[in-house]
Formats: sequence, C-alpha cells, structure tokens
Amino acid sequence: MSRVKFHGDQQYPLEMHKVRIIQKLNLLPIEERLDALQQAGYNTFLLQNDDVFLDMLTDSGVNAMSQEQQAAMMQADDAYAGSSTYTRLESKVRELFGMRYFLPAHQGRACENIIFSTLVDDGDVIPMNYHFTTTKAHITANGGTVAEYLHPEGIDVTAEHPFKGNMDVAQLRELLASDANVPLVRMEAGTNLIGGQPFSLENLREVHAVAQEYGIPLVLDASLLQDNLYFMKKREEQCADMEIREIAMAVADACDIFYFSARKLGFGRGGGICIREEETYKQMRGLVPLFEGFLTYGGMSVREMEAITVGLEETMDYDMISHGPEFIEYTVRELDERGVPVIKPAGGLGAHLNAMDFVDHIPQTQYPAGALNAALYLTSGVRGMERGTMSEERDAEGVEPLANMELVRLALPRRVFTLSQLNYLIDRVTWLHENRELIGGLEWEEEPEILRFFYGRVRPTSDWPQKLLAKFREDFGDSL
Ligand code: F0G
Repeated sequence: MSRVKFHGDQQYPLEMHKVRIIQKLNLLPIEERLDALQQAGYNTFLLQNDDVFLDMLTDSGVNAMSQEQQAAMMQADDAYAGSSTYTRLESKVRELFGMRYFLPAHQGRACENIIFSTLVDDGDVIPMNYHFTTTKAHITANGGTVAEYLHPEGIDVTAEHPFKGNMDVAQLRELLASDANVPLVRMEAGTNLIGGQPFSLENLREVHAVAQEYGIPLVLDASLLQDNLYFMKKREEQCADMEIREIAMAVADACDIFYFSARKLGFGRGGGICIREEETYKQMRGLVPLFEGFLTYGGMSVREMEAITVGLEETMDYDMISHGPEFIEYTVRELDERGVPVIKPAGGLGAHLNAMDFVDHIPQTQYPAGALNAALYLTSGVRGMERGTMSEERDAEGVEPLANMELVRLALPRRVFTLSQLNYLIDRVTWLHENRELIGGLEWEEEPEILRFFYGRVRPTSDWPQKLLAKFREDFGDSL
C-alpha cells in the first residue's frame, strides 16, 4: 500500500492480497433500478441485494475472509459448553487486549444491551465523543440520555483535523463536576456517524484519566478499532514507531470495558465484551445466557468464533488493515478533486458524501442525504446508506431532530472491492454532482417509531427520479 511508491506522478493504493473466491455481480439497466427503488420505498435497506451492483451499505458482516480464517472454520469444536473454539477466542482476546474477563455476544448491539442495561438507570447522563444509532437506542431504552462532547472540529465537515473523533475533555470535566448522574464515559473508535473519524491515543488517555478521577469506568466501543489503529500509526507521532499490536494494547490499557461488533472488528460475525473488573463481569454475566446463549458461545456459531479469532490476529497486520482506509482515501481524494463535497480528511469505514452541500437546494425536512442516496442507487446501482435526519429518532413529543450532518456513507467492506470498481463509483458520483439540480426531496410514506431508517418507506416529493433517469439516458445512451 502506501509503503509501495509508484515511479509515475500518480500514487495508487495497492492490494496486498489476491482474490481467490469471487461472486458475480449484477448491474441492472436504470429502468429496472427505478422499479427496484420504488419497491424498496426509496430506502436502500429494503433493496434486494440481487438488484445492487456495488453494495456499499455497510462494512458489517460483509468483509472478505482470508484462507486462514476459512481453514480455521473447518476445525471448529461444536459444543454447547466448554468448546475449545471458545477457549481459543477468549485466549486471543486476552492476549491482544490484556483484560481478564470476556463475555461473548451475537453482535455489537447485543453487547450494548448487556452493558447499558447493567450500568444505565433512569435519569443518567452518558457522555461520549459521539453516539451510534444502536448505542443511543439502548441508552434511551434504559432511561438514560446521551451527551455528546465531540471536539468542535469533529462536527465541521471541512476541518482537516487528523483526530476528529477526539472528545472535548473540558466539557466532560464540566459534566462530571455538576450534580448529573454519570455512570460511565463512552468513547467510540473510528467514530461512525461523523465519517469514520478516529480519536488519538493521547485524547483517549486524557479522557481515561478524568474518568478515573471520578471513579467511573471508560467504556470503549471498539467496533471500528481497526481503522482507528491505522490512523494512530499514520497520524500520531507517539504511535509511528509502535507495532499495531502495541497500539491496540495501549488503547485497551486506557479502558475499563471494551466491546466490539465482530461483524467489523475481526472480519467475522459476532461480538464480545472485555472487562477488567471482576465485580462488573459478574454483574453482566447473567445477561449472556438470558439474551445470547451459554457463556461459551453467546449466540455465535463455533465457525464464526474460529474466524474471529484468526481475524483479530490479522487485524494486527498493517498490510491487512490499511486496505480500507487507503482505498477510502483514494476515493475521497478523487471526488474532492472533481469538486464533489466529501468529508475530509478521509476517515475509515467508507467515503462520505456531504449531502448538505451536494444537494443544498433540498431542505433538511425533506432528507437531503436520503434523497442523494436514492439518486445514487438509481444512477449507478451503488447502494450507500443515509446517515442524516432519517437516521434520527423523534423525541417523546414526536419532534424530529435535524441531524448535525447529512451524509451518504459509501462503506468499503474490507478486502472486497477493486480500484476499477471505485473508479466506476467516482465517475457516477461526479456525473450525479453535475446533475444535482435534478434531485428532489423525500417524504414519509410509512414511518416506524423505533430505528425508522431501517425499514421505513419514503417517496419522492415530485417526479424527480423520472427526470434524472431521462437525463441519464440522454448522456449515457444505452449504457447500463
Ligand atoms: N457500534 C458501532 C460503532 C457500530 O458501527 C455498530 C454497527 C454497532 C455498534 C452495532 O454493531 O451491527 O454488530 O450490532 N454498525 C453497522 C454499520 C450497523 O453499518 O455501521 P452490530
């Protein structure tokens, strides 16, 4: 990757792996894409994957596995209790993160259910760098509220700060000095909703020191730790000469509880909670058999646990974890040079289009990010994810909060896409930007109460999709 220099002027990210299993893709003609979009209620979560060309909805559970992971899956030990597969996973987690206790769970939000139903009570305030959708839903379900203390540059889509996921420690101190009930501090690695932006090791340590002063645990959401580790090594002086493994341990050392979705961290499907204190472990332990499964599988299949064990080890390999961020950086750079508004600097997880600027003629109440996302699928077959006002929840009075950012996330599942596929994406996004005036707004047709963005249905406020289709045909002829 960036350790390889090209002789010519242009520098490209280079894959340090080769593809040995493939899945054929399907690119429908635009007329059929419009049908598919209408059937999906203009919500890309409701599209059938067969109707999608490049699935950039998420990096969750769709990362490519290595041959070592697949081989390990074949020697899994099927047992309800005491499986040696589980012991291998537990030992790997201990080895990498140094915490004594581990609880398995079937995915990240299951960890959140266990942690927040144990630690959060009515009226509690939970400070964090930034929320994630499922995190906030679990905290509110337990009667708590979320207080976001993101460093001011984190929310500024054009600020070139290397660590936009940092927490504003002064604000945290202020809250802790007040009479608010604060049972824990949460930090999120590779902060998802602000564009996969990292925090620095220095900031994490500062937050931890403050939490310790007040005797409360620091809980890390490490689902996107892989990207955060890469950025710490690349951007933080004190990490430049450290191995990824050492940085991972330094991060874990600054936390009391550490949970992750193994659908992201570890290239598998599952999750887990690492806990330092015995007392906390005992408080949480009972919820695993209640919600997940016995303590030695927690809802995961043994094959997946084997894959995660190997995947976590691969996460310590710089060549393996740099593919995502470097392909994202390439996409962001190319789009930026073509005048497309993107979140900068490039983060992890995916490239993020800034819909607030891209379609600045669409009011936030008509969901600019949702509309842009639908328009992108229509004109490219690429499926992204709305991360804006549609992803917010109405409050108890039914008032809809307008999101701080209106983003279309184009996730890069790890080790999956090639550079020519990204060039196709860049081409179509650029065309769409040139024709952005044709994109119109959306309104609800069916709005669920909880996590509405997952399965709610919207419709266009005019016949703008048909107009966009006509312009596409005019410019691209009979191209797919
Ligand atoms: N925390 C973070 C930071 C996440 O990104 C996710 C999932 C979760 C927790 C929940 O984990 O899905 O395994 O239950 N993010 C996915 C995404 C859904 O597409 O960004 P999960």
